[in-house]
Amino acid sequence: MKVKDKHFKVYLDEEKIQSRLKEIGKQITEDYQGQELVVVGILNGAFMFLADLCRYVDLPLEISFAKYSSYKGTSSTGKVAELIGFDESIKDKNVLIVEDIIDTGNTIKKLSEDVAKKGPASVKIAALLLKPEVYKGSIEIDYLGLKIDNKFVVGYGLDYDGFGRNLKGLYVLDE
Ligand code: IMP
Ligand code: MG
Repeated sequence: MKVKDKHFKVYLDEEKIQSRLKEIGKQITEDYQGQELVVVGILNGAFMFLADLCRYVDLPLEISFAKYSSYKGTSSTGKVAELIGFDESIKDKNVLIVEDIIDTGNTIKKLSEDVAKKGPASVKIAALLLKPEVYKGSIEIDYLGLKIDNKFVVGYGLDYDGFGRNLKGLYVLDE
């Protein structure tokens, strides 16, 4: 499989992703029983994960998006820019941040700080993927799809230089 100039091989197929999301959705449904929830997806990478995950959550649900950017090509820039922030509508609500992947943790740190400023009732984090070898943060990930090695992955919302987001499965760089 080729995305732009790089070769990738299958990492996780569609079926495995969906069965894991089903489990996480059930867990979220149980944890927030009797409550309402605002799910905030972080664009662009989390759009597919959010779209599938929220279909496995059986709660009164609002859906919103924020946009942050840190990556250029296949390595983190360390600087995180807020492109579309969290709005005032999350005040006094239960917020679930939905991220595609946590790498260094710079992005999740910045957006956790930004969310807190808006005065939500509670904040939890759901991430599809985590690179534990790289993650140096202290923020706990409440709902995690899968831990992965420190390798660049693409597909299922994640991109390499803007491309590959539409792939149904996850692919890893084949070096
Ligand atoms: P962090 O701030 O270093 O934790 O990076 C998080 C962001 O970088 C994610 O939201 C992704 O958009 C992007 N990212 C990190 N690792 C990968 C990867 O392996 N493939 C594609 N994007 C990635
Ligand atoms: Mg992202």
